[in-house]
Amino acid sequence: MSKIEIRNHPKFSNVFISGPQERLRLYTTNLLEGKRVYGEKLINYKGIEYREWDPYRSKLAALILENPLTNLFYEDLKCLYLGASSGTTISHLSDIIHSGIIYSVEFAERSMRQLIQNTSKRLNIIPILADARFPETYAKYIFTNVDLIYQDVAQPRQAEIALENCNYYLKDDGILIIAIKSQSIDSIKKSEQIYAQEKRILEKNGLNIVESINIHKYAANHIILIAKKEIN
Ligand SMILES: C[S@@+](CC[C@H](N)C(=O)[O-])C[C@H]1O[C@@H](n2cnc3c(N)ncnc32)[C@H](O)[C@@H]1O
Repeated sequence: MSKIEIRNHPKFSNVFISGPQERLRLYTTNLLEGKRVYGEKLINYKGIEYREWDPYRSKLAALILENPLTNLFYEDLKCLYLGASSGTTISHLSDIIHSGIIYSVEFAERSMRQLIQNTSKRLNIIPILADARFPETYAKYIFTNVDLIYQDVAQPRQAEIALENCNYYLKDDGILIIAIKSQSIDSIKKSEQIYAQEKRILEKNGLNIVESINIHKYAANHIILIAKKEIN
């Protein structure tokens, strides 16, 4: 039986890898030892417990495996996460950012209940039951501008929702990561047309798209855009 050897990710701090480059596996260290969030594999390596991070379940993991150039995480990152669901990706982000905070917005009550069950002991996660289309409704829960907005909401107006949240909450040199699902915007038009249309909306409204990464390998009809606020 081959033994897994876990090492630091060469670019992203607090993200770990094993295996050869073409079959890389991702991990984060488990903030809550012994606890799984979505049935992920737990691995003890040199006395530290790691959680395997599944790119087929988490678009952020898929993005990292596609090697983005932008540095996305640091320990005290403040993040607004739109489309929290039951906390699969958020739990890994919570492992990564230690002293940071994740404001986690989800509008489905059932998912919110699961999110709370899954993450209530993770003190860097603040669950917010709210609709991301109306950013003003959760202003009372968010105390400062954030460094990163991560959006994965599978809605028809994905670019507009992101923009409105950026205008409310993103600090001047902050980053937006948006997962665009073409099928949720228009199931008839070609995906490429939809991606171009969403990019245009973001760019016309003061966001600079620095990376556009196709993650079709892991999630059908999805790309991820990384954008920065243009400072005037
Ligand atoms: C694809 S899932 C998110 C998966 C999650 N990002 C992860 O990786 O663990 C999309 C989620 O967005 C939520 N959602 C969709 N529209 C929303 C909205 N307008 N406001 C808040 N949440 C929304 C859905 O209820 C669903 O839980």
